[in-house]
Amino acid sequence: MAKSNKRLIAVVDSHTSYRKDIVDSLCSFYDVNDYGDGRIATFKALQEDVPVIIIVGEDVSPSNAINFIGELRNTPELSLIPILHIINKRNLDLIDDSKKTGVSTIITKPFKRSALIRKISVLLNANVEKEWDKLPDLQRDALKSSIGVFNEIEDVLLSEDTVSFDKVKGNCQSLVSAIAANDFKSILDGVRDHDDYTYAHSMRVATMLTLLGNAAGFKNEDQLILSSGGLLHDVGKMYIPHHILNKPGRLTEEEFTIMKGHVNSTVDYLKKVEDIPSAVFIIAEQHHEKIDGTGYPHGLKGKELNELARMAAVVDVFSALTDRRVYKEPMKVSKAMGIMTDEMIGHLDQGYVKMFRTILIDAKLLV
Ligand SMILES: [Fe+2]
Ligand SMILES: [Fe+2]
Repeated sequence: MAKSNKRLIAVVDSHTSYRKDIVDSLCSFYDVNDYGDGRIATFKALQEDVPVIIIVGEDVSPSNAINFIGELRNTPELSLIPILHIINKRNLDLIDDSKKTGVSTIITKPFKRSALIRKISVLLNANVEKEWDKLPDLQRDALKSSIGVFNEIEDVLLSEDTVSFDKVKGNCQSLVSAIAANDFKSILDGVRDHDDYTYAHSMRVATMLTLLGNAAGFKNEDQLILSSGGLLHDVGKMYIPHHILNKPGRLTEEEFTIMKGHVNSTVDYLKKVEDIPSAVFIIAEQHHEKIDGTGYPHGLKGKELNELARMAAVVDVFSALTDRRVYKEPMKVSKAMGIMTDEMIGHLDQGYVKMFRTILIDAKLLV
């Protein structure tokens, strides 16, 4: 059987049924290896098949969970692997010991499946973001500034507050400069493994939309607006429940209706942002419209589609096809471009598809 491309998580807990609950909760997004005790064989297996996160349950025989965590921390090959420790509400006095032993995060039982998945995401992202520190200033700043925008939006999502557009635009300058310097691949690589799908997708769209604007001769100021539009084009997805947004299989009709609602949610959000340029609105509102009129939400056709929206649609589709999702590896660039050229003639502006193809070839992302 072909090896799965999902990331590997390990669960260690002496209770078979607790372990099974965790495996069932995570298995559509991750590969999960589970272990029933903390004996030598488990350490051996963990070292052979090193997971990205180790989840330690309430009880780990032959000793206990805290001692097991201590042993993990003292095992060189495993000492840096993030640990998520599950503690029962009845045993909150364990929290201090757990923290002292070096766990990365704790979740108290009972918890919702979504809370567990969120904790895992945060841990994975902390690792990805730590890698950004190794990049040169411009690329590191482009990534940190963009995640800064996203965190700020998320922090006040359910209030009436919004980000300031000037700030978003300012935060996009490093990205635009990196593209002007033709040194942007590490930015695309830097978001590839990020577990916040809406962020990773939006940053890729922002990067590729700016590339398209750069190739089309847009000035710096206009490229900043394109980048901001890319970064903000799907903010409405932050309102969509995780299980729909990250569903591995096909969406039901009802789920798809909810998913399509992200366009209106984005527009509603952007309406609250002061001094937002109309270009940003257009990108958000029209990026799912198709030239033959079969897109949404308005079913615009032909000339009704703004140029910026045509550009956004091309990079949005490319990004969606080639994004890494928690449950799948990215599609190959050549395959995605083949689909966009051969099967989406009626949907996408083929002039921009061609321009985009040239960009990918120049960047050696397509041969
Ligand atoms: Fe979208
Ligand atoms: Fe999108």
